[in-house]
Amino acid sequence: MSEPPDGRPDPEPYIAANRAVWDEWTAIHETSAFYDLDAFRQGGVRLRPYEIEEIGPVEGQTLLHLQCHFGIDTLSWARLGARVTGADFSPVAIELASRLARELGFPDARFVRSTIDDLPGTLEDRFDVVYASRGVLGWLPDIRSWARVVAHFVKPGGRFYITEIHPLANVFEDEGVEPGELRMRYPYWEHPEPLTFAVQGSYADPTAAMTATVEHGWDHGLGEIVTALIEAGLEIRSLREYPFVAWKLDFLTEADDGTWRLPSTVAGELPLFFSILATKPA
Ligand SMILES: C[S@@+](CC[C@H](N)C(=O)[O-])C[C@H]1O[C@@H](n2cnc3c(N)ncnc32)[C@H](O)[C@@H]1O
Repeated sequence: MSEPPDGRPDPEPYIAANRAVWDEWTAIHETSAFYDLDAFRQGGVRLRPYEIEEIGPVEGQTLLHLQCHFGIDTLSWARLGARVTGADFSPVAIELASRLARELGFPDARFVRSTIDDLPGTLEDRFDVVYASRGVLGWLPDIRSWARVVAHFVKPGGRFYITEIHPLANVFEDEGVEPGELRMRYPYWEHPEPLTFAVQGSYADPTAAMTATVEHGWDHGLGEIVTALIEAGLEIRSLREYPFVAWKLDFLTEADDGTWRLPSTVAGELPLFFSILATKPA
């Protein structure tokens, strides 16, 4: 395996393997109850109230959604008035997103197939809002490289927003444990070599048949994420931490609002999700 200048392994084989996983997952997700595409077709907005409030009005603004999957969060922003562009490395996801945009009447919505790292060479525009959410950073080998791409696409005076699982929630064993059983297993800070996991169906349908066998992931500490954004030229306006995760982890229990939280048997709380709002100086 070739070595880039900073001594990290070449990420390309890992990225290619992950892309194969996401291509198959997209086909599974299109018909899954988890994504409930029929509800979305009938006019739903799949964004969470807190992120809509933290980002503020997007009416008439250009918005780039990084790692947009098959576009239903992207098109939700379009339903709130943004002029949207979605980007993702999965050709299957981009094809489905483009088809949905046509079917649901968003002729101005644009979907671009590219890895995060290649996007500045693929897409010329700059945007009022750059957005990413829920399950994105763990697929990226180098948080500083990601932050430079983010900052590249924010117009001067524009803003960047991300909401994502908290790196602290990622350190615990999340399978085969009881609610409240906090067993440290995974790294907190970024590591050059990926962690490799066997693929078992998809998070939306663990019983789904798959031909891809492995996925690769990386961790990034909260300080690394924030510092990377600052070093890329953005100014942090808020960093909020939340006591819930948007999806199931075995050490959590489901709350009435559909989020996953520590059970009441655990004394105290931990940050399990976060959001960052940043701006680029005008
Ligand atoms: C969990 S989805 C995030 C979207 C949204 N939370 C959702 O559930 O629809 C993660 C997305 O990241 C994309 N992805 C993973 N690695 C990528 C990379 N290196 N460059 C671009 N996209 C990538 C995948 O194709 C997938 O669509």
